[in-house]
Amino acid sequence: MNFDNILKELEHKGIRNDEAQSDKALKYLNITKDTGEFLRVLVLATRSSKILEIGTSNGYSTIWLASSIPPDGTVTTIESSERKAEEALSNFEKAGLANKIVLLQGEAQAVLKDLNDPYDLIFLDADRSKYMDMIKDISRLLKNGGLIICDNASSHESELAEFTAYLKSQQNFSTSLVPVGKGEFLAYKSSSKQA
Ligand SMILES: C[S@@+](CC[C@H](N)C(=O)[O-])C[C@H]1O[C@@H](n2cnc3c(N)ncnc32)[C@H](O)[C@@H]1O
Repeated sequence: MNFDNILKELEHKGIRNDEAQSDKALKYLNITKDTGEFLRVLVLATRSSKILEIGTSNGYSTIWLASSIPPDGTVTTIESSERKAEEALSNFEKAGLANKIVLLQGEAQAVLKDLNDPYDLIFLDADRSKYMDMIKDISRLLKNGGLIICDNASSHESELAEFTAYLKSQQNFSTSLVPVGKGEFLAYKSSSKQA
């Protein structure tokens, strides 16, 4: 199955599942389709080829990211739920993108400590209450000239207030809130803040 077909299939499956499912742990909580399209434009425009994602679920957003990078690019994605990680791996195979994706199963706060390579783009879509615990590692892993994208910045604005305020206060980050999907908070890392 090509990735456009699997994206369509997962989009509908995610909506149906999450409407019917009352247990939050069993919801997919996928990004919206327009967020996927926005991620694709950002990946292409920034020429990102090494991407880190925190919060894989069943791999819907990962497939948007991995289908947007060049052939030698990689997406490293972190997921704490074993069940969702297994489902994501199967979806990566179906999409023909398994060779471009490295899935690390575990709690991101711990997994990040073992990563060292710089990333062009870091996409955050996991437990928002943990982002401040991860911010030092996220900043360390983002290259100068790299971009953080954080989902749910409008839908869960107050939960992200400390995190977004922190990035806005950093001299080397330029930030913007974009009203796409559930709200995408962008933070661009330069070596010094632009005037
Ligand atoms: C909103 S869903 C991700 C949706 C996915 N990005 C997509 O659009 O298809 C959040 C996922 O993050 C995972 N998660 C939450 N906290 C985590 C953590 N601390 N480390 C790793 N994964 C986490 C959850 O199990 C859940 O599958």
